[in-house]
Amino acid sequence: VNELIINLPDDFHVHLRQGDETPDYAKDHEAHFNRIMVMPNTLPPIRSAESMLAYYQEIKAAAPSLNPLMTFKLHPDYTPEQLRALKEAGAIAGKYYPQGVTTNSEDGVREMDALFPVFAEMEKLGIVLSLHGEEPSAFCIDRERVFIKKMEKIWTEFPKLKIVLEHVSTLEAIELVKAAPAHVAATITVHHMCLTLNDLMGGALKPHYFCKPVVQGPQDRKAILNAACSGNPKFFFGSDSAPHLRHRKEQSVCAAGIYTAPVAMAVLMELFEEQQALDKLENFCSGFGADFYGLPRETSKKLRLIRQEWTVAEEYHGVVPLYAGRTLGWKAEKI
Ligand code: NCD
Ligand code: ZN
Repeated sequence: VNELIINLPDDFHVHLRQGDETPDYAKDHEAHFNRIMVMPNTLPPIRSAESMLAYYQEIKAAAPSLNPLMTFKLHPDYTPEQLRALKEAGAIAGKYYPQGVTTNSEDGVREMDALFPVFAEMEKLGIVLSLHGEEPSAFCIDRERVFIKKMEKIWTEFPKLKIVLEHVSTLEAIELVKAAPAHVAATITVHHMCLTLNDLMGGALKPHYFCKPVVQGPQDRKAILNAACSGNPKFFFGSDSAPHLRHRKEQSVCAAGIYTAPVAMAVLMELFEEQQALDKLENFCSGFGADFYGLPRETSKKLRLIRQEWTVAEEYHGVVPLYAGRTLGWKAEKI
């Protein structure tokens, strides 16, 4: 195969930040994606229908052909009225951030049970629960494995609440999602399909491979790769593309997050080809996510992947992307 044409992909987990940086990041996504689900951990966070709508307009103005799917940051104090207003303003998911485990989560939630009344309203309104699945009190490598033990309680108490475990990073979480009811799914990033702790810190420390949840062992990476390539509709693409300016990564305190938007589709193509699963790529990145969220599949816009070498730029707008400087074998272009 030297060329593959697929429906224009959706990315169900991206960070576009705020202010002057947002238009550049939005345009990088516009180059290869149709719908993107935008995370609410901006400064200040997206917590109201007004701020969510303003953010939507800002993204649309920068990248008119990109279709942002909006989210808000969960906290225990939402009233049913505020949640209804968010739903009416177009929110498709509420995002749970445990306190302090990742970028801009200092205002996150300490005890997830405090959110159960909010989950009950979200279930009624048909708002998806999007989970950053890490338990802050656990050892950093084990935070996801400890967190997922709480998930059964959520899906049992709220049988109609759709739940997405974001950026799944361990074999245990893959197994749990597979065994869970159909309304429980997971997003998979490109970097968790490619990297292990060896890449991050097996030799010299590589700050541009540092993200939350942290990349894990070879057996975890393999399980994630297999799940993505398996054709199971519970696993769909969410890049967690998370830009940080170079100086925020290359300093004594390194921000968590990997900027993958410019390379994601080329790298996915390479991975699915290696796995002899090219027939599964379109569902993974242009089908299953939309299906889970109850959105129509987009069939009129396409992405072409061609076998052509290109070298990833060292920087995009001051951000070092995944595989900066590396030559990739597939090129993606919107048609
Ligand atoms: C994300 C960011 O930079 O906003 N960072 C990350 O390491 N993934 C936040 C997140 O999704 O955890
Ligand atoms: Zn994220």
